[in-house]
Amino acid sequence: MSGQYASPSQPCRRIATCSAMTWEGRSMDESITVRPAFPGEVGTIASMWREASSWLRSQGSDQWQYPPDLEKISRDVRRGTAYIAHRRKAYLGTITLDDFADPEFWSDADSPRDALYGHRIIVLPSAQGFHVGSALLDWASKRARAAGKSWLRVDAWKTNEELGRYYERLDFDFVRRVDLPHRRSGALYQRSSDTMTNQGPKVVHLEMPQHDINGNPSTEGAWGHTSPA
Ligand SMILES: CC(C)(COP(=O)(O)OP(=O)(O)OC[C@H]1O[C@@H](n2cnc3c(N)ncnc32)[C@H](O)[C@@H]1OP(=O)(O)O)[C@@H](O)C(=O)NCCC(=O)NCCS
Repeated sequence: MSGQYASPSQPCRRIATCSAMTWEGRSMDESITVRPAFPGEVGTIASMWREASSWLRSQGSDQWQYPPDLEKISRDVRRGTAYIAHRRKAYLGTITLDDFADPEFWSDADSPRDALYGHRIIVLPSAQGFHVGSALLDWASKRARAAGKSWLRVDAWKTNEELGRYYERLDFDFVRRVDLPHRRSGALYQRSSDTMTNQGPKVVHLEMPQHDINGNPSTEGAWGHTSPA
């Protein structure tokens, strides 16, 4: 079911309504918080994926029409590379940011180590239209720059032309399209890590907060950082 959400303390049916506050109706002047996901938020990210998948289907897209890969999400949460965006007690979305250059997409000629790569970028349908994605990508550019990388890169679903236009509006350049029969992503985009569009809300980055938005401790489970792949 779309929007299933399992909080460590209380099950909830839709992410956007499971907290005391929701995004709707709130001012965009307020900053949003981006922080590593907690071990207990693997299910939250999976639910975000399902909501995005349903939204994409409703837009007529064939993107992400399969279940979330819980193993990969758990791996990224363990590594500390899966991030959650929220504003007060409302989840807004997620991004995974790492230095994994998918070898099927990026070659030696691309200087693959000179970039950070965004994956599983989601703004919940309830939070779309307020440039939260743009704010996440600006945040990612800053992280890339701080890590000494020249580029922020993404690979997008090949048939989602809207998404390609979206990245181009945010100053990404189309690099090329990689057509592999077993991969439906492969429209490659990059922008300089110096590029910010400053369209979205201000982002406050928290490295290791003590509690998630529902007050559940961050120390539960196998919390910890390892080097990105
Ligand atoms: C891509 C995404 C993160 C952008 O969210 P956002 O920052 O809130 O974007 P906004 O709603 O502010 O702006 C996107 C604009 O593109 C349009 N658009 C339509 N279909 C779109 C699509 N599939 N992807 C992105 N934008 C789309 C929106 O309607 C909007 O147009 P408008 O500005 O004229 O209203 C969000 O659409 C999303 O989560 N999409 C599903 C998951 C996804 O495809 N992620 C990218 C993986 S590479």
